[in-house]
Amino acid sequence: MIRNSKIILAGIAAVWVGLGGCGQNPEKQSAVQLKPPIQQEVEETRPQFSQPVLATVTEKTRKNYQWYCAQCHGIEGKGDGINAKLLTVPPRNHTKASYLETRTNEQLFEAIKFGGLSVGRAPCMPAWGHTLDEESIHSLVQYIRELCQCEAL
Ligand code: HEC
Repeated sequence: MIRNSKIILAGIAAVWVGLGGCGQNPEKQSAVQLKPPIQQEVEETRPQFSQPVLATVTEKTRKNYQWYCAQCHGIEGKGDGINAKLLTVPPRNHTKASYLETRTNEQLFEAIKFGGLSVGRAPCMPAWGHTLDEESIHSLVQYIRELCQCEAL
């Protein structure tokens, strides 16, 4: 019985020391916590674009757009989806050539795969890399080119 309570006391002491240790350097800790993990992930998995990618727009591409993108970007891609008004940053109008001409296909691909944050845009543009494979994302980029009827300048 006495032995047991000694073990319990030792256990409590260990937990106490452990907790104390966590609070020792609050500045360093909060710096670590504030770093968005997504940035690290982006750096580690940033794709190489040495090969030109040929993607075609298929029925599946249009369906994907209606299913995953239209609620924000609108059924016709004009940035007027049902959720658009609820977002702090308005979804891009994918028919607006004057903006999309300033973005390369790689930038659009990256925005779709890793989310708005990865290309210096708002985080309310979600990352789709866990939902859509790369081929589907490349064809969505082509579909956006179709919507804006434009290419990167
Ligand atoms: C929850 C709402 C939402 C959904 C769903 C959504 N987006 Fe977006 N998207 C946004 C917002 C908001 C922006 C604008 C970000 C900014 O301008 O800072 C954006 C921007 C973009 C951009 C432009 C990035 C740039 O370079 O400026 C592309 C391309 C894009 N979205 C593609 C898609 C595709 C493709 C889908 C579907 C797979 C999709 N989005 C789904 C909200 C959404």
